[in-house]
Amino acid sequence: MATTPAPTAPRSAVRSLLRLWPYVRPVRARLGTAAVVAVVASCTGLVIPLVLKWIVDGPVADRDTGGVWLGALYLLLLGIAEAALFGLRRWLVARPLAGVEAAMRADLYRHLQRLPVAFHDRWASGQLLSRGTTDLMLLRMFLAFPLTFLLVNSVTILVGVLIMLAQDWTLGLVLLAPALPVMVVCWLFEKRYSQVARRAQDQVGDLTTLVEESVLGIRIIKGFGRHRSQALAFRDLSRTLRGTELAKARLLAGIFAAITTLPELAIGAALVLGTVQVADGDLSAGTLVAFLSTALALRWPVESIGFLLAMSQEAATATERYFEVMDAAPESGTGQPADAAAPVPVPTRARARSQNRSSDHDGLRFENVRFRYPDAEAGSVPVLDGVDLHVRHGETMALVGGTGSGKTTLTALVPRLHEVTAGRITLDGVDITAMPRQELRTLVAVAFEEPTLFSAGVGENVLMGAADTAGEAELRRALAVAQADFVHALPQGTDTQVGEQGLSLSGGQRQRLALARAVVGTPRFLVLDDPLSALDVHTEALVEAALRRVLAGTTALVVAHRPSTVLLADRVALLSGGRVTAVGTHHELLRTNAEYAWLMSGRTETSERETR
Ligand SMILES: Nc1ncnc2c1ncn2[C@@H]1O[C@H](COP(=O)(O)OP(=O)(O)OP(=O)(O)O)[C@@H](O)[C@H]1O
Ligand SMILES: [Mg+2]
Repeated sequence: MATTPAPTAPRSAVRSLLRLWPYVRPVRARLGTAAVVAVVASCTGLVIPLVLKWIVDGPVADRDTGGVWLGALYLLLLGIAEAALFGLRRWLVARPLAGVEAAMRADLYRHLQRLPVAFHDRWASGQLLSRGTTDLMLLRMFLAFPLTFLLVNSVTILVGVLIMLAQDWTLGLVLLAPALPVMVVCWLFEKRYSQVARRAQDQVGDLTTLVEESVLGIRIIKGFGRHRSQALAFRDLSRTLRGTELAKARLLAGIFAAITTLPELAIGAALVLGTVQVADGDLSAGTLVAFLSTALALRWPVESIGFLLAMSQEAATATERYFEVMDAAPESGTGQPADAAAPVPVPTRARARSQNRSSDHDGLRFENVRFRYPDAEAGSVPVLDGVDLHVRHGETMALVGGTGSGKTTLTALVPRLHEVTAGRITLDGVDITAMPRQELRTLVAVAFEEPTLFSAGVGENVLMGAADTAGEAELRRALAVAQADFVHALPQGTDTQVGEQGLSLSGGQRQRLALARAVVGTPRFLVLDDPLSALDVHTEALVEAALRRVLAGTTALVVAHRPSTVLLADRVALLSGGRVTAVGTHHELLRTNAEYAWLMSGRTETSERETR
């Protein structure tokens, strides 16, 4: 029987796997105990051939039936001990490893929530999903089997080889002959397998993304009759994945063939040589029996090295993929810490209230704000290129601009969904990067073009926008402001489940719920990205009027496309070419600004056409 190479994966794989240590640390005692138990169990198995030798050379040779029975009893006890010890090992690791997997998954989820929007813009959701599911499962399996058994099998093989050499060193050397070729095969296998494993896991991510998109976009797919092209895309991806899996299987087949055949040949040679020696009287029959049964007992430890290495390699890949996400920097607490020497003036609510006339420091201010998306091509023009805008305290400012002019981008900068590239944004005189995000996001409430609702009750969805203390009264008020009283007529009122796994609402209904969510916490600053676009003009007017009344003290920036929305704002800012090119009332701008007049007239014509 051959020794196997010390089961060393390439250094990079080991280095990847070492990163699991922080998660494994808390359960290291259990894992260590389990490994010791497994080594003992495995070595117990190796005692069996020695008992056989004793039976053959002792009681059998002496025709002592009682001795044979005693030997059989020993064998039975050893077998039971081995089985019990392996069972104990399983019991020792099952619970802690399920815990490790759960902890890693929880960390991944928490981290995903804290990663900036720019990260999520860049990463396909399927790639994240597959990391949170398949990859973590691979890791748990690695910790349960290969991690322990690479060690256990190595020790078993070492002990077995020593036993065999002690029985008869010439036969032992015959069995050791394939060791070197097997090591080379393992080394080659590791190198190739790591590449294929990585490819396969990435392809699983791509496939997950495609499935997710087709489920989310099922209406578009049906509406445009794109089943066939989606199915083709799916088939292509899944064929590619199948190809990669087959490549993995081919590599595994290769290593299995080598790892099984070479040692078997050596066992055959040892058998012939041993029989000749026994015939010549140079070797006892018992020794040959013990020798060969030890060799056979080592077959499994040697053969399993192939798939243990494969699983380790997949686990190393999974670890890399896991930490690719975990290494991405989360949003910082406060962008740049406030300068201790010159503390930023934090205006109190009292001060803000005492000043009836808005001062320069009050309200929402953009100062020379520049912004370029992190993934934009180098050298491209920034989306925002020197925006200066002052929304006074308590004022509602409409933001108007052509499509793609950067309105959504500008609104996303206020709650720091993206970080300004240069310049600064202040709320009542305080730089938003100087306050904790938590505080910033209680000050500012947002509603975006796409009203996202979660799989939860209507009430829960709305109350997401408020502190935990908010209750029925706040909910009722917010629903009233957003003209979302239709909620009370739903089957279970505010408890009605909506979102992906609930009742489907109309676009306008969803917008109104998103708006209710934005206002339920009575925010001091309200940023609305065209949140009323799906409402009819009358509902829109009602919403606006209610908004004004209830949120009198709120400073609001409202992206608007329609003159009806614009009219309800105190002033209008025109965003054009990455800057604010004009600020004034709707009528002023209509008179003095050709671009504004053009934007608004176009809209008016369209809306008139629509209403006709
Ligand atoms: N995540 C992103 N990464 C890179 N570029 C982006 C990203 N989001 C938007 N852009 C680009 O930024 C520009 C401004 O987009 P933005 O969504 O702010 O326009 P908008 O004024 O809100 O348009 P609309 O009126 O159609 O809503 C566009 O050219 C767009 O291609
Ligand atoms: Mg937009």
